[in-house]
Amino acid sequence: MKARIATVRNRFPALRPRPRRRTAAYLDSACMSLVPDRVLSAMQEYYTEYPGCAGRSVHRFSEEVSVRYEAARARFAGFFRAPGGPSSVVFLRNATEAINLVAHGIDWKRGDEVLVSDQEHNSNLVPWQHLAATRGTRLRFVRLPEDRPFDSEVFEEALARRPRLVSLFHASNLDGRLLPVAEIVERAHDRGALVLLDGCQAAPHARVDLRKVAADFYAISSHKMLGPTGTGALIGAPERLDELAPTLLGGETVEWTTLSGHALRAPPHRFEAGLQNYAGVLGAAEGLRFLSEVGLDEVLAHDRALNARVTSELSSESRVQRVGPEPVGERPSIFAFALDGVDANDAALFLDEAYGVMVRSGRHCVHSWYEERRMAATVRASFYLYNTEADVDRFIQGVRELLQRIPTTSGRRGAPRGGALSGTSAPRLASRSRPRPSRPRAAG
Ligand code: ALA
Repeated sequence: MKARIATVRNRFPALRPRPRRRTAAYLDSACMSLVPDRVLSAMQEYYTEYPGCAGRSVHRFSEEVSVRYEAARARFAGFFRAPGGPSSVVFLRNATEAINLVAHGIDWKRGDEVLVSDQEHNSNLVPWQHLAATRGTRLRFVRLPEDRPFDSEVFEEALARRPRLVSLFHASNLDGRLLPVAEIVERAHDRGALVLLDGCQAAPHARVDLRKVAADFYAISSHKMLGPTGTGALIGAPERLDELAPTLLGGETVEWTTLSGHALRAPPHRFEAGLQNYAGVLGAAEGLRFLSEVGLDEVLAHDRALNARVTSELSSESRVQRVGPEPVGERPSIFAFALDGVDANDAALFLDEAYGVMVRSGRHCVHSWYEERRMAATVRASFYLYNTEADVDRFIQGVRELLQRIPTTSGRRGAPRGGALSGTSAPRLASRSRPRPSRPRAAG
């Protein structure tokens, strides 16, 4: 990969050198990945060569896009080795929409339980809270050990309550930790529970073989795996998709209608109401093709190597308080941390302004986790196939300079409310850092 990385990086227009602009060290791929030129071309090709509606008109634009749209579905099915084939892939806007489709599509009974972890993204928490409030279901939590691997016994205890659905991340967006999903699915199925996996942070980095990880539902966001924003999918076991009620109805979802009724189409079409994001889906499929060509094993090894370099360099800094499991192999694409005495958002602004290093700071849409621990925020660096050692070295250097400039504030963790940079005695740092209020970004 090392030899190939320069070529891979060149395929990403956002990383190409620009006059009078520092090239970005983009370490925020867990939020959204950059797109290669081939994805942009695929989207442009749709609008210039066959800008029609799939599955409707009989003219050649429509015919062409219909064929390509279904070929994109087949590519998704192949990429994830979906046992149900192309018809088990529902194109949606993102994993959030996919999780909501499951939350609203199951025929819940009062008292049904949904089991999630205590470290879920808002997208895998709020829909279940809403369901409990409106439909009388119950929401339960399995606590994840802070810095140890997944605890199967604790999970088994939670399963003893016979939840109807277990909904967990495959890899955490907060600290990158991977869950043993094959084991989780097996144990949950043994207890008769359905399983939904949020694959957003795992699928971009590691092979997902749904013939081995037999989840009932697997949700992804394509904009984290080289696709355009607002594209994603729900991949469902065929019998589960058959049981799921669509949440949006209209054109495309029905075989026929009369003034008094209609017949729904079979999945996946019954879940794709109205005119679809053809350009986006074709771009997302091209992103998967790119990833397959590079090879997911290589991508994973590359991410892990960059993360290992960061972990080893920053582990000697006592003020860098890393979160998540210790071994890099258990959190291959993310290095998340708080800096003693430095507000997370201020740190991120400094890294961007002074070093051109882009990271995410705040609560990463997992507010509940921070609330439980009374932590204000963390900084998250995430690695992907276009990152280089030079990128992570800039990041390490930036963190070190920040620590040198800001004096230690003992006993502070995550610098709740107003880090050192926002105080009147803050040293002069990047101009943009100083006037910014030191608060976590809104939701997200
Ligand atoms: N869930 C995305 C992230 O963690 C937006 O950055």
